[in-house]
Amino acid sequence: MKNLYMDTKPSDWIMKQIKKIKINKERIKVLDFASGYGRHCIALANEKKLITAIDKDQDKLDFYKDYKNIKAICFDLETNEKWPLIKNEYDIVLVTNYLYRPRIKDLTYLVNENGYLLYETFSEGNEKFGKPSNNNYLLKENELISTFENDFNVISYFNGLIKEPKKMIIQRCCLKKKTA
Ligand SMILES: C[S@@+](CC[C@H](N)C(=O)[O-])C[C@H]1O[C@@H](n2cnc3c(N)ncnc32)[C@H](O)[C@@H]1O
Repeated sequence: MKNLYMDTKPSDWIMKQIKKIKINKERIKVLDFASGYGRHCIALANEKKLITAIDKDQDKLDFYKDYKNIKAICFDLETNEKWPLIKNEYDIVLVTNYLYRPRIKDLTYLVNENGYLLYETFSEGNEKFGKPSNNNYLLKENELISTFENDFNVISYFNGLIKEPKKMIIQRCCLKKKTA
């Protein structure tokens, strides 16, 4: 059955950030973390990128598992098991509409030196507009900065109301990994 989220467009912000990022490499490696129905990895698959997409839900991964340049991994990211991902491997890690605080810092080790972490998800205040309304899924103001500032430089940050595609309170942050 067709699901509400299947036709959701990629985030304009994510797509713009990716366009702006200049990495001197033939094929940029992107990790779409908790990739869902693949609105970002499918959009990027048409470009010259090597994409890994990971999600716990095989039904969602089935939408893009056959794309040549997407490696789709079915895995529960919220256990203590080692993630089946390579450390310091990805030029860009993107996380959208997903938050699991107990392991959020582990995202750091996935990004390679000088690579980028693009994070966009709901933040406190969103409960006025609908779901998610549970604090476990809502970032606190500045939370992405305080979580990652030891290892990343902040390139851009926003926390507040957006009106499109619907009214939501979100936080988005583009972070660039510091050199060791
Ligand atoms: C709201 S969707 C967002 C999907 C995608 N990032 C996007 O923005 O379109 C959240 C995704 O997180 C995945 N997810 C939730 N818990 C997970 C877990 N424990 N391990 C892996 N993926 C999980 C869900 O299957 C779902 O696809």
